Parts: sequence; C-alpha cells; structure tokens
Amino acid sequence: MAEEREVWPSRTSFVLAAMGSAIGLGNVWRFPYYCYKYGGGAFLLPYFIALFTTGIPLMILEYSVGQKFRTSAPVAFAKINKRWGWVGWFALFMSLIVMMYYMVILSWSLIYMGKSLTLAWGNNTETHFLQDFLNVSDGPGDIGAFNWSILTALIIMWIIVYLIIYKGVEQVGKVVMITVPLPFILLIILAVRGVFLDGSTQGLEYYLKPDFTKIFDVDVWLAAYGQIFFTLSLAQGVMIGYASYLPEKSDIANNAYLVSFMDCATSFLAGFAVFSVVGYLAVQQGTDVATVARGGGAGLAFVVYPTAINQMGAFAELFGFIFFLMLITLGIDSAFAMIEAFVSGLKDVNLKGRYPLIGTCIFGAVGGIIFTTGAGFYWLDIIDHYLNDFGLITVGILECLIIGHFFNPQKIVEHSNKLSEIKIGRNWIYSIKYITPFILGAILFVKLTELSEGYGTYPGWALTIGAMMIPISILVSFYFVWRSKKWMA
Ligand code: PHE
Repeated sequence: MAEEREVWPSRTSFVLAAMGSAIGLGNVWRFPYYCYKYGGGAFLLPYFIALFTTGIPLMILEYSVGQKFRTSAPVAFAKINKRWGWVGWFALFMSLIVMMYYMVILSWSLIYMGKSLTLAWGNNTETHFLQDFLNVSDGPGDIGAFNWSILTALIIMWIIVYLIIYKGVEQVGKVVMITVPLPFILLIILAVRGVFLDGSTQGLEYYLKPDFTKIFDVDVWLAAYGQIFFTLSLAQGVMIGYASYLPEKSDIANNAYLVSFMDCATSFLAGFAVFSVVGYLAVQQGTDVATVARGGGAGLAFVVYPTAINQMGAFAELFGFIFFLMLITLGIDSAFAMIEAFVSGLKDVNLKGRYPLIGTCIFGAVGGIIFTTGAGFYWLDIIDHYLNDFGLITVGILECLIIGHFFNPQKIVEHSNKLSEIKIGRNWIYSIKYITPFILGAILFVKLTELSEGYGTYPGWALTIGAMMIPISILVSFYFVWRSKKWMA
C-alpha cells in the first residue's frame, strides 16, 4: 500500500462515526415494527440474547480485525488466511446492495421533508404515498414509469454524500459531530411530544406488552438476529473498515459496548416516538392499534406518521419537518459508512485516486434506479428480505468460523485486551467458535428448508431473482479476489 493510511482525528470522531453507522433507518423503520409484529415486549428477549451472544462479540471481532490489520475486510480476511479473502468482498457486496436501496429511502425522506412544510400529503396519506408519490405498479414484473422526482432526489442525496466523504474520514469525523447527536435530540423531542398525545398509552402498550407465545416461532429469532446484524452494521465489512482507521492505541471492547448500547437505546426510544403516535391515531380514528400499524416500516414512517401529523393542529408542519429531518440525519451517516467501507476495500487492493469513490457512487446510484420505478417498492422489500434473512447471517457465520477455526482467536483476545478496559476471555472465544455459529447455522438451516414457501405474495421468479443476489455476490467476490491479485501485482 503506497499511501499512508488515514486515522480518525480523535476517539470521539471514531465512536460517533461508528454510532452513526449503527444508528440509522433500521432503528426507526424496523425495530419498532418488529416489536409490534413479533410479540411486543417479548421480542426484546431474543433481541437481547442476539445482542449479547452475537452482536457485541462480533462487533469486538470486527473492530479488532480492522484495527489489528489496519486494512479493510477483503485484505484483512486474506491476511488471516489466504483462502478467505472472498468473505471480505462478500460482506462488502452486502453493504453495497443495502446502500442502493438505503439511499432511495433517504431520498423519499428528503421529498417528504419538503412536503411536510405544507402538509402536502393531504388527508389520504396512504393513497398519496403509494399511488401519487411512488406510483406503485401491479407487481414486480410491471416496472411502470420512472419516478423523476424520486430519481432527482436520489441524485441530490448521492451528491451530498459524495461531497461529504470525498475528503476522507477526517471530514466524516467532523460531519458526524452534527449528524449523530442531532437526530437523537430530534427523536427525544418527538418521543416526548408523542407520549403526551391522547391515546399514546394504547400504542405503547401494544409496542411493549409481551406476548410470550411468539417466542417459540423461529421467525422471531431470525428477525432478532437479522435485526442485530443490520442495526449494528455487522457482517458487511463496515465496522472492519471504520476500525481500520483507528490509531494504534484505541480501546476496542469499550467502544463496542458503547456503540451497541447507544444503538439499542435509540431503537427503544424510536419505538416510543412511533407507537405513541400509532395509539393516538387509533383513538382519533376510532379503530385499534393493529389496524393503524399495518403496512410495515414504510407504512409507519410515510403513512401513519404523516396522518398523525395532520391531526396535531398547532405546529403540525414543524413536527413533520422534524420527523423527516431526523430520518435523513439518522440515515446519512449509515450511508457514509457503507460507501466508505466499499471504497476502502477498493483502495486497499491498490486502486488509486478518486476512481474508487466516484465509481462506487455512480454504481450505487445507477443500481438504485430500479427502486425509483413503479415496481421499486416491491423490489426493495424482496431484496431487503433476502439480504437480511440470509445474506448477513451467512457472512456472520463465516466470520465466526474463520476467526474461530482458521485463525487463533486467542490472538484477537490478546489484541483487544491489550488496548481495552473491558477484558474479553474464554466466553468470547466460545461465543465466536461455537455458540454464535451454531445458533446462526440452526436458524439459517430452518429458513433454507422453508425457502420454497416464498415470501409475501410475490411471484416465484421475482423471489428467485432476489435470492440470487446472494450466490451472485459470492461469485463476484471470487472474481474480485482473482482480479485484485492483478491490481496488487
Ligand atoms: N445500521 C444501519 C441501520 O440500522 C444500517 C447499516 C447497515 C449501516 C450496514 C451501515 C452498514 O439503519
């Protein structure tokens, strides 16, 4: 590597950037919805088990690998064992795919932030979102028309992100000083406002009341583990990438705990902001919470929330603006992380200059176009499903097996303990070697046996395309390993 590796300007900037990566749309979009769907408060049990048996151990692993080898995932894994470099690329391809649709959701938020100023979504928010705004077609095969306003917003978002990250992690370190605390403060404002609304307790009860019968359903466990991977930005080469810019003496375990806990706290808070409003709306409309909250994460953010805002009377526009600004600032630093990880992967195999960044941005923006069509909403759902439920879990298993069985995990323990206040030991090694891969393997196995049951009401061919993203990513990863030997020669 010819160029000297950059380092984060301070510990705070790394921690904030890592938090910014973790805290994103997943916290507002998916966590509250999963709680609601998978047994309310009872979902917290598998969630915390996933956090402690997999999330935190894996985050420590990823930080240690990045910091020890001071290089991004593909080269780090190749250094661990020559045969495994492809796993690093595989992880990065997962984040590349997430990045494509993540940016589209951010561009919806940008447009909705504008709409909030005049409550332009009107009274029928569902029709407005699905028909007037997304112009949703009849199915994934009916691409329909491009949506020019979403495409324009997408390009604007990509340009903003490009301008922020092109100067490297130093600049990112400065921007996250704003984009991490700001949405957190906005979320507190929304949660406080929400809790004081009429009927909020009904929503909160629905969100938190445990229904323990759900615990025996493997889907709940899958959701919990998938969510932990997504929300903590694990198994995507992202945390390895960020940690590769850490100075030599940086605490690892403390940072991993700090980032994980802040992320969970934000999710929990987001649940209050969202479900208090759901309860309020149920009372306003004289229906029940279940009816109001149907429609998944997108429905909650772009239909339920605007409907509630319409009814808030004074300051309705302000709360709408705050909500969408919160979504954008929450998500934008996750986008930095995904892009930065992929770009540093390319740079570490000797691709020089601006091309890796420009290439990644253009590729990401062009790949995102499919999600701006009339069928985009369906494709987003399909791809997000396979990626979360199968892709991330597969990468997670591979990471554990490689470190646990093709490398001496004791070396990671020593490395982390040398630098960290919180010490890890035999429990960590057991988790990485046996517990995590076993649990993840069992979940993956059950889901694979259920693969033929499909997902939603989508046609088989569309699901096949969605699922094929994973084997295709693996093949392309092998290709990249082969190519990068030439780049590095
Ligand atoms: N953790 C982010 C969220 O919850 C998503 C993300 C995934 C960010 C992968 C970076 C890398 O929204």
